[in-house]
Amino acid sequence: MTSKWTSESIPDLTGKNAVVTGASSGIGYETARALARKGARVVLACRSKDKGEAAVRQITQEYPEAIARFMLLDLADLASVRRFANEFAQHHDTLDILINNAGIMKTPFGKTADGFELQLGTNHLGHFALTGLVSGLLVRTPLARVVMVSSWGHQVGVIDFDNLNAEKGYDAGRAYSQSKLANLLFAYELQRRFVSAGRDTIAAAAHPGWTKTNLAVHWPMVRTLNPFIGQEPEMGAWPTLYAATAAGVQGGDYYGPSSWGGLRGYPTRVRSSDRSYDTAVAFRLWTVSEELTGVHYVWDVAR
Ligand SMILES: NC(=O)c1ccc[n+]([C@@H]2O[C@H](COP(=O)([O-])OP(=O)(O)OC[C@H]3O[C@@H](n4cnc5c(N)ncnc54)[C@H](OP(=O)(O)O)[C@@H]3O)[C@@H](O)[C@H]2O)c1
Repeated sequence: MTSKWTSESIPDLTGKNAVVTGASSGIGYETARALARKGARVVLACRSKDKGEAAVRQITQEYPEAIARFMLLDLADLASVRRFANEFAQHHDTLDILINNAGIMKTPFGKTADGFELQLGTNHLGHFALTGLVSGLLVRTPLARVVMVSSWGHQVGVIDFDNLNAEKGYDAGRAYSQSKLANLLFAYELQRRFVSAGRDTIAAAAHPGWTKTNLAVHWPMVRTLNPFIGQEPEMGAWPTLYAATAAGVQGGDYYGPSSWGGLRGYPTRVRSSDRSYDTAVAFRLWTVSEELTGVHYVWDVAR
């Protein structure tokens, strides 16, 4: 089904609006580059103006026809997420592709501007708020897609509702796995809500296997092994790009690399952990995320 699919296989995206979070480096940059190359109007949503503008310059130098622009988005600050969504809505009537890619991993204990544990706050709650705030545009755009970028790490993740913000102790690895499980629970719950509301928007998910990027700044072992095991960011972006653009993708699908036990290779449909399909946990996480962020999805009939 997905054998030998690469970013070359992406269909023409002329006229489509796309947003990629965390597009200043790694998988997000390659995702934005591939979408722009195929004609999409791409917004690189990044927390650093300098890095975001540099990424746009790099893309437009390589592909002079590309329509790419930087917009400031700090997922660890809900005021920034709201500013981004408002500004985006001022300039766009539609949103065809939203790629929730940005992420941090195994960071020392920290809090977002709103007091959330940093990894859950950035990787999950920031994206929950962003998606909700732009979801009016998504549902009004025919066959729009949302892609959550998760990780193999979700497999060992558990949502600890009694310690969501690390009030009772912090473990950097557990917090990362929790946030990546939250990405999947959110994607699948979002898909169920799109269906319940009679919308044709698709929510899917992807993971990049093991990809050589800046992600492992706080994990020396992964940094050491990156040159030997990690695949290039261009390949790491394929599962995301497949979920975002390939024909036949269904809401609730999850894509990842097909070789080396899922660490690298061409994208294929994969199964996530049993816990990620737990609808009761997903429902509860959604409710808690609404409470914490204050963001409600206006079209959501389950509200
Ligand atoms: N690399 C892998 O092997 C691997 C494996 C599994 C899953 N993933 C997932 O892949 C995604 C992309 O990571 P990557 O590997 O490409 O790492 P990366 O090169 O470090 O890219 C992460 C991106 O997220 C951005 N970001 C971090 N915090 C942010 C915030 N508060 N607001 C907005 N943007 C923020 C970073 O911005 P700055 O440039 O400003 O830091 C950067 O653009 C992540 O969700 C990660 O969990 C990666």
